[in-house]
Amino acid sequence: MRELRGRNALVTGGSRGIGAYIARALARAGVNVVVSGRREDALALVVAELRQKGVAAEAVPGDLHEPAQVDTLIERSEAALGPLDVLVNNAGIEQAAAFTRYTRDELTSMVDLNLTVPLLLTHSVLAGMLERGRGHVAFIASVAGKLGPAYTGPYAATKAGLIAVTQSLRAQ
Ligand SMILES: NC(=O)c1ccc[n+]([C@@H]2O[C@H](COP(=O)([O-])OP(=O)(O)OC[C@H]3O[C@@H](n4cnc5c(N)ncnc54)[C@H](OP(=O)(O)O)[C@@H]3O)[C@@H](O)[C@H]2O)c1
Repeated sequence: MRELRGRNALVTGGSRGIGAYIARALARAGVNVVVSGRREDALALVVAELRQKGVAAEAVPGDLHEPAQVDTLIERSEAALGPLDVLVNNAGIEQAAAFTRYTRDELTSMVDLNLTVPLLLTHSVLAGMLERGRGHVAFIASVAGKLGPAYTGPYAATKAGLIAVTQSLRAQ
């Protein structure tokens, strides 16, 4: 898919930071954008900014720690904007600590949000993309996924997983 103008994208974690930046860049390229995140006030500000760039933009809020929100995000985004041509798996959290200081919940919730959620969203969106014969899926990884810096083992593990799934899907 070489022409992006007029296509539809979903950016997770689009309420701030790198996700909001990616959403703005997509809008500048003429792409309609759904931004997702928990903070509805922040999403509304990003949506207003995107619409000023002349594209359609919608907020589809949701906490991606909640399975029901994950399972319906693609469907809700497509209901708001139309079939998705681009999925940017950006939402993620980074925690740094000595490995033994992480709680069980901190370990599993970081793996869920950073790795399992992108796999599930990609799984949901791919059937439609393959049927339409076009689409792009992006994963926001990190250099931590290549190096495994001190005190960030669980985060680095999730990012290494994203790099691996990107390589694997690309190879298919
Ligand atoms: N910043 C860096 O230097 C850097 C370097 C390498 C890779 N990355 C990666 O780039 C991505 C974005 O990083 P960032 O620095 O822009 O992070 P950020 O400023 O902390 O933003 C994180 C985004 O994820 C969303 N998010 C967090 N928890 C969520 C949840 N439970 N449900 C739904 N959305 C959730 C947040 O939205 P709400 O708060 O509205 O929920 C926010 O939009 C992450 O995957 C990060 O690992 C960042």
